[in-house]
Amino acid sequence: MDQVTAALERHFGFSRFRPGQREVVDAILDGRAVVGVMPTGAGKSLCYQLPALLLDGVTVVVSPLIALMKDQVDSLRERGIAAAYVNSSLDVGEQRRILDDAANGRLKLLYVSPERFRFQGAWAAMQRIPISLFAIDEAHCISHWGHDFRPDYQNLGRVARELRVPRVAAFTATATQQVRFDIVRSLELSDPLVTVAGFMRDNLHLAVLPIRRMKEKPRYARQIIQKSGTPAVVYCATRKNCEEAAYQLQTAGIEAVVYHGGLDDDSRSEAQNAFASRDDLVIVATNAFGMGVDKPNVRSVIHWDVPGSIDAYYQEAGRAGRDGKPAWCTLLFTYADTRVQEFFIDNGGENLPPDARAARADGERQKLKAMVRYAYEEQCRHAAILRYFGDRVQSCDREAEDGHGASCDNCRPDAGLDGIVVSSPAAARDASRATLPRCEPRRLTEDEEIIVQKVLSAVARARGRLSVRRIARVLRGSRSKEVVRDPLVESKSYGILSSMSETDLVGLLDALGRDGCTAGRNPVLTERGKDAMWRKVQLELTAPPFSEKKRKKRGGAAPPVELSAEAEDVFRQLKQARFTAAKERGVAPFVIASNRVLEQLATLQPEASRDDWLQVRGVGEVNVDPLREVFLPVLQG
Ligand SMILES: Nc1ncnc2c1ncn2[C@@H]1O[C@H](COP(=O)(O)OP(=O)(O)OP(=O)(O)O)[C@@H](O)[C@H]1O
Ligand SMILES: [Mg+2]
Ligand SMILES: [Zn+2]
Repeated sequence: MDQVTAALERHFGFSRFRPGQREVVDAILDGRAVVGVMPTGAGKSLCYQLPALLLDGVTVVVSPLIALMKDQVDSLRERGIAAAYVNSSLDVGEQRRILDDAANGRLKLLYVSPERFRFQGAWAAMQRIPISLFAIDEAHCISHWGHDFRPDYQNLGRVARELRVPRVAAFTATATQQVRFDIVRSLELSDPLVTVAGFMRDNLHLAVLPIRRMKEKPRYARQIIQKSGTPAVVYCATRKNCEEAAYQLQTAGIEAVVYHGGLDDDSRSEAQNAFASRDDLVIVATNAFGMGVDKPNVRSVIHWDVPGSIDAYYQEAGRAGRDGKPAWCTLLFTYADTRVQEFFIDNGGENLPPDARAARADGERQKLKAMVRYAYEEQCRHAAILRYFGDRVQSCDREAEDGHGASCDNCRPDAGLDGIVVSSPAAARDASRATLPRCEPRRLTEDEEIIVQKVLSAVARARGRLSVRRIARVLRGSRSKEVVRDPLVESKSYGILSSMSETDLVGLLDALGRDGCTAGRNPVLTERGKDAMWRKVQLELTAPPFSEKKRKKRGGAAPPVELSAEAEDVFRQLKQARFTAAKERGVAPFVIASNRVLEQLATLQPEASRDDWLQVRGVGEVNVDPLREVFLPVLQG
């Protein structure tokens, strides 16, 4: 056994490293700067604690949470490791004594809160410490984009420079690229190892249940809890929904307690304690619940409402099955619920200056979009999440025995909870396509934009007199009595989309309503709708592909794309570029990109920006840059 593994066993009693740990430890020992991104509970502490023991000198750990510092230090001391902390909870005398211990090499790990560096006394003492490693925990606090910005964290780059620390390692569970970038820049790290690891949770079954009527939520939630067992967590977006969900579950005979920010401290801690001490309870909570709650045997996490980001979703869903036994994570999804999140976005960040506020809202909107894409994902959900975080992509284990190994509703509907009809996108594609958006928000093709123009002008002419269905019938040129009587029939709108089905038209009108182009039960055009009608804005709709021709019946997994003549031409050029690139690299063409991706590129023709490319189906954080390199020149032709 090598020395590092031996130390792991000797000091911590663990026989093997978790994903990512070894790589980080080795890099630190080699003297390389590190940014380690791993989810909550994946074992980030060990990544700096083990090198701390193997290096000469003292590892200084910056940590923002005073409460957690004490726990960490206590557990290190139990293992016989010389560790201590300095923060505002200690008086000046105690702080001085501990800093002296560190300066004299009597400590291996010293935890400090970031604001300590502001104080002259502590700063002077710090300069006498033989620092081997400067470790920064919860490093997302450096970034405005993190959920937890701390001004003191922004000084840490200067601190590291002035203390001339030989090694810097930063850790966080927040995986967005912007945050990672801010960490590297703010800490002035050169050529750091940036690793993302440990996001795969292979005992979880991930599923999304499309909700058509609100009363389906309590029914599904009850069924899931009855099958999966307790303890279970139901997350809601608002306090009101918490109360409602808990009421519905209680009425169905399920014992549920409520936890949210609107309750007084006593009720909250009562709920939390009950949930902590009992295994037969359901807790219905907002995201206020969960900080520091670590119940290993949660069997099921249900999201009553869609959360604002995949980060938030996975953090919350990931509280299921910490014990490694099979557990179920289910999102009850209807697109309408995104409005609550939009509201949070519009009203968030009110303490920020206007510019920063707008930038923040923009970022949040992107995150919400990614969450909606997850809800409509038609491929492996585990893979989608890993791709989002930038971890190595793995899919469900289709060979695994029932209930064991990673599974999701798309790959393995059979591994879901017995008796609950989990209608995966793949299975539900044909069902009720009219009212339920079945795909991700996407750019429209030229032909589709023309159809949208026709539909919006009919809405404008109807002036709020007609229902969605009635407008659809006018567009189709229906001869039914109540349609023929309407003055709209005299207009240009009558029958201009006669080849489209009523169902598709109603679906499209609904999608335009969700997008904010129309408003009301008897829809009228909004300002956005007017802009869209004149094609001043580029719409992205959550609607399946639609066209004036008769659509062929669908089969197989992916909806076929009918390319326009122009797209067909671009598609050919893209294929040529793929062929050349594949030859250059000595790989098969499909390794570069699938036909499906090329079709999407040919149809959507994204502009140069990375974000545009990320909107294309099949393009993710992992492949966006290589794809742009090969195919952007063709599109810019
Ligand atoms: N290699 C390992 N083998 C077994 N258990 C491990 C290993 N590494 C860490 N652990 C355990 O995993 C648990 C979580 O570790 P840790 O507190 O470091 O998580 P974290 O990544 O810092 O999470 P958070 O984001 O919540 O701070 C701890 O109980 C730790 O002892
Ligand atoms: Mg930690
Ligand atoms: Zn899967």
